[in-house]
Order: sequence, then structure tokens, then C-alpha cells
Amino acid sequence: MAASRSLSPSHFCSFFFFFLLVPLLSLLSLPIPVLCQCKRPPVIFNFGDSNSDTGGLVAGLGFPVNFPNGRAFFHRSTGRLSDGRLLIDLLCQSLNATFLSPYLDSLGGSKFSNGANFAVVGSSTLPRYVPFSLNIQVMQFLHFKARSIELAASGTLINDESFRNALYMIDMGQNDMANTFSKNLSYAQVVKRIPSVIREIQNAVKTLYTQGGRNFWIHNTGPLGCLPQKLSLVQNKDLDPYGCLSSYNSAARLFNEGLRHLCLEMRSELKDASIVYVDIFAIKYDLIANSTKYGFSSPLMACCGHGGPPYNYNIKVTCGQPGFQVCNEGSKLVSWDGIHYTEAANTFISSKVLSTAYSTPRATFDFFCHG
Ligand SMILES: *[C@@H]1O[C@H](CO)[C@@H](O)[C@H](O)[C@H]1NC(C)=O
Ligand SMILES: *[C@@H]1O[C@H](CO)[C@@H](O)[C@H](O)[C@H]1NC(C)=O
Ligand SMILES: *[C@@H]1O[C@H](CO)[C@@H](O)[C@H](O)[C@H]1NC(C)=O
Repeated sequence: MAASRSLSPSHFCSFFFFFLLVPLLSLLSLPIPVLCQCKRPPVIFNFGDSNSDTGGLVAGLGFPVNFPNGRAFFHRSTGRLSDGRLLIDLLCQSLNATFLSPYLDSLGGSKFSNGANFAVVGSSTLPRYVPFSLNIQVMQFLHFKARSIELAASGTLINDESFRNALYMIDMGQNDMANTFSKNLSYAQVVKRIPSVIREIQNAVKTLYTQGGRNFWIHNTGPLGCLPQKLSLVQNKDLDPYGCLSSYNSAARLFNEGLRHLCLEMRSELKDASIVYVDIFAIKYDLIANSTKYGFSSPLMACCGHGGPPYNYNIKVTCGQPGFQVCNEGSKLVSWDGIHYTEAANTFISSKVLSTAYSTPRATFDFFCHG
């Protein structure tokens, strides 16, 4: 592992915290303090799809995202596809940072002092130049950065130093896989497209690096074949032991292998950058495979949808559309609407991400705001 300059303090911090302090404190059954605090206000820029869209689709296209989305936390729809907070919201809260405003949100006094969220529902890496593909999201960032620095004298926007110290998050690829499968392409054809998707993520990281970004946090893609939507739409089902589509999950794993390898490569090339790769697939697959152990049930059934078991998903009657049915206890289900996770599942996922056990290298999420 390349011992990059900017990671070493946090490495020490997490090493101290997890291997020395935590066992000691749990022995004494004392509460575990948050040891690694941000020394400067954290600034985060996020690029992604619906898994991390905090309202970009609604702001950008006026597309309605109806109640009961948001019911468990916001008590109204905020444009997030979930009953509550997304993983990115919970990660922001772990730093005591406010939720990220969608870049496209021109109403409601969006404050961008802690960064901006460029993620939009449905986004993929390819094709390029289509709203809101990854390269468009990065171009929006370039515009945002240029304007912010022009206006930074006013003190409310992000200055050059904060752009350098910020965390750059990418959570993309799910729709690249899903869109190819939905065009009825063969598994082999889906797999053939993976290298170009990985290259596009590399382009994004390199552009952000050239702009001064040094801290990257990259999520891999989840088990696509466990989504109730995919399970209900696919005819010839080749299921794994947990009832998920084997070919979809294999493609997701191959994509993740490519992404992991890209991160390795970029770590040795961009020596002064910290590039953290997070295995979201393993976290979500564990949650689905061991759902009972974690207090969940029916991990392959949507809470909000139509049609009842086994998947409660109907493409003509999706969550929030006329005729939908919604479960009473969203906190017991993993899938909210057949594609996106419930707040309860996101809370589980966030705790696993924050544990550092799924990260390479094992940096704490707040590594970028230390000192
Ligand atoms: C967040 O706030 C709590 C309470 O004030 C504090 O204990 C904790 O250290 C803060 N976390 C970070 C990452 O700054
Ligand atoms: C998808 O491909 C299969 C096998 O090649 C074919 O039988 C089926 O009709 C196709 N479906 C669509 C929607 O094109
Ligand atoms: C389910 O939990 C068991 C026991 O902790 C673990 O060994 C296994 O890897 C988990 N399954 C998945 C798919 O992660």
C-alpha cells in the first residue's frame, strides 16, 4: 500500500482508535468517544445516481417524486428515492455536516458552503454529454468551482484551499449495468462494456485531480441482481442461494473488480492523492443474505410498490404512482421501492461503511478534514 502523505495521520488515528482504544474501552464498558474530529469544516462533492441523489432530479427536471417517499424521516418528499435518509446523508451527519444540496437546486436558499451534490436519478457514466452523465456532472463541478472562486471574496462560497481539501465522492455504475441488461443484451455483451465504464470513472477522477482534488471516496456498485425490480422483470431466472439473479450479480462483481483495480492503479500513479475504495456490494449482499440476523425480513420484497409477495413490484404501478401499496413497517424491510433501500437499510449500510472494515485503505470517513 502506498503510504501517501495525506493519509498517514488518519491511518494512525484509525489504527489507534480501532485497535487500541476501542478494545480497552469496551473492556471497561465505557462509551466510545468520537476520537477523530474534523479540524476544519468538511466540504464534500458527490457524483452519482439515484443512490445518492438528494433532490437533483426534482430540481433539474421538475420530475415528481411523490409521498410516501420521505415518510420515515423528512415526513414529506424531498426528491430522495427512499422513505428517509440516504447513505450520503448519514455519512454527512457522521461529520456533523448538513445534508448536501443538489447542485441544480436554485430554490429554497441552497447553501453550498459544505459542498454540492451533482448526483441525479438515472445517471450513468456512458453515453457522455447526456444529462446527467458523469462527465456532465464533472463539467457542472468545473463551472461551480470557477464561479465559487470568483465569488469567494464574499465569504459564503468555497475558496481554492477548501476545494483542495474537500472530499470527492463517486457512486456510479449501477445504471450502466442495468441499462445494458434492460436492452436485452447478453451477459457477454454487458461484460464487454465494463472497461469503458471504468475508464469514464478514471477520467472523472483525473479531471478532479487536475483541478486540485486530492481526497477521493469511491463506492462500488451493489448487488444488482437482488433488486426486486430486476427480479420481477427478468423472465429466465438463474437464481443464487439467496434468490438473487446470478448473472446480474456476476456482472456487478466484474465491474467492481475493475473499479478496485483502477483505484489500485490510480493510487500508485497519483501519489499525493488518497483514494478510498468502499465495498458496498459486500455490505448489501451480507444484509440481504443475513437479513434475519440483522432484524430485517423479506429482503427481496419492496415495501412500496404493487402486487404483493414475492417482490411487490409492478413497473406500471411504482411507489407514489396511483394504486401503489406501502408496508406499515418500512424499518423491517431492506428495499423501499424495488430499486432503492429503506432508511433502516441505509442506516445499517452507513454503520458498516463508517466501521472502515469495507474500505481500502482502511481510512476513517473523516480522514480528509483532519488538520
Ligand atoms: C460531532 O459533534 C459531536 C457532538 O458535538 C462531537 O462529539 C463529535 O466529535 C463531532 N464529530 C466530528 C466528526 O466532528
Ligand atoms: C430478449 O432476448 C430473448 C433471447 O434472445 C428473446 O427471446 C426475447 O424475445 C427478447 N426480448 C425483448 C424484449 O426483446
Ligand atoms: C452471512 O453471515 C455469515 C456469518 O457472519 C458470514 O460468514 C457470511 O459471509 C454472510 N453472508 C454474506 C453473503 O455476506
